[in-house]
Amino acid sequence: MNVDRITVRGGKPLQGRIQMKGAKNLVTKAMVAALLGETPSELRSVPEISDVRVVQGLLELHGVTVERDGDTLRLDPAKVRTAHETSINAHAGSSRIPILFCGPLLHQLGEAFIPDLGGCHIGDRPIDYHLDVLRNFGAVVEKLPSGIRMSAPNGLHGAKIHLPYPSVGATEQVLLGAVRAKGRTELTGAAVEPEIMDLIAILQKMGAEIQVDTDRTIRIEGVDKLVGYRHTALFDRNEAASWACAALATGGDVFLEGARQPEMTTFLNVFRKAGGAFEIEDDGIRFWHPGGDLKPVVVETDVHPGFMTDWQQPLVVALAKANGISIVHETVYEQRFGFTEALVEMGARIQIHTDCLGSHACRFGQRNYEHSAVIAGPVELHGADVVVPDLRGGFSHLVAALTAEGTSRISNVGIIARGYERFIEKLETLGADFDVEG
Ligand code: EPZ
Repeated sequence: MNVDRITVRGGKPLQGRIQMKGAKNLVTKAMVAALLGETPSELRSVPEISDVRVVQGLLELHGVTVERDGDTLRLDPAKVRTAHETSINAHAGSSRIPILFCGPLLHQLGEAFIPDLGGCHIGDRPIDYHLDVLRNFGAVVEKLPSGIRMSAPNGLHGAKIHLPYPSVGATEQVLLGAVRAKGRTELTGAAVEPEIMDLIAILQKMGAEIQVDTDRTIRIEGVDKLVGYRHTALFDRNEAASWACAALATGGDVFLEGARQPEMTTFLNVFRKAGGAFEIEDDGIRFWHPGGDLKPVVVETDVHPGFMTDWQQPLVVALAKANGISIVHETVYEQRFGFTEALVEMGARIQIHTDCLGSHACRFGQRNYEHSAVIAGPVELHGADVVVPDLRGGFSHLVAALTAEGTSRISNVGIIARGYERFIEKLETLGADFDVEG
């Protein structure tokens, strides 16, 4: 459903049962991995979100046949070919995934072209680590006004690589490049998010040799040939955390089918500290507001196993209603509190600081980045007209509107559909009071 604006009448607790599908941040990379196989791959539990459609479009441009049957994607790379730069550029600005096409395309075709990247505006989001990784593998990188062109005249070879920060995307870049490179790759300072572990599981199914050590070191022995995989994607823990916070903020009670405890342990700790309740079942997790005051918390976002940067935005809405002062210190992205401006318009009391508040100093301290938020509650939010700035910030605006007194109009909600499958249908299922405009 293409929706541009929704009008929400707040005050109704969200109640009901909804299903979580595969994680956006795994599924899109698993689709790219299919490029590396000599036979077709089958990916299950694929959500209908626009980021998946963007990656599908790019794969098809490169000759991969992609067929959807319900939640399953079949990807056949038998006829991989070079795509025209102009057609690739039609996807400029729509996603950050194209940068991950480089390794697989260099293996398959000896060349790659990627357009200007998109993704949420939550900081500078440089790609220097990615380009360094590719150069280390032996790729020749040429920056053009229209994008980046790469070639590997002598193929890619393994390398010793250290990441200055455990970047999720750069770790995936190493994995997707190293599995078919000549020789051994040793990556230190790797990210170890569950979505990365699931990508490693997929690559292992394809025939890759990958060893993960306890100290953020990943060793990969390149192989000549990989085959297709069959895999059910890990559930989307970011989507699950978002709906859990929506239940907490609205005083609701939701059951998230498909959500699992191990990947959410850190979130569950904070959810309980903030006054929420949960119950783990075999087929999902129930999250609810057990009554009484919500409690303030001090949280620092971090790489896994820390509290994910994608969890803080909807949590901040619940914290605005908590009885006391909360602190959220964002240490992954330098500019991820832009979304709080709209919450302040809706009555939240939030101040953003450049200091590292609440815990130890991070790499953004002393650099003038507004990356700590102080949230003073409790407040009653009131409706407002807001424009969605980015995916997670947009979802937090939706949560704020659902809990606010009166009516809110939220525009640009198409951004939310990038990462939240059928969120309009889910809102209906959970009993929200709203109208949509196309
Ligand atoms: C992934 O982004 C996710 N996106 C993000 O989710 C998520 O917030 C992030 O990982 C952290 O978990 C996808 O998987 C598509 P990073 P990614 O490289 O890989 C710096 C969402 O809403 N950095 O781990 O792009 C970077 O600026 C999105 O679902 C460099 O400096 O994140 C950031 O400060 C938003 N140079 C830090 O590393 C580089 O070349 C972590 O970024 C690459 C990254």
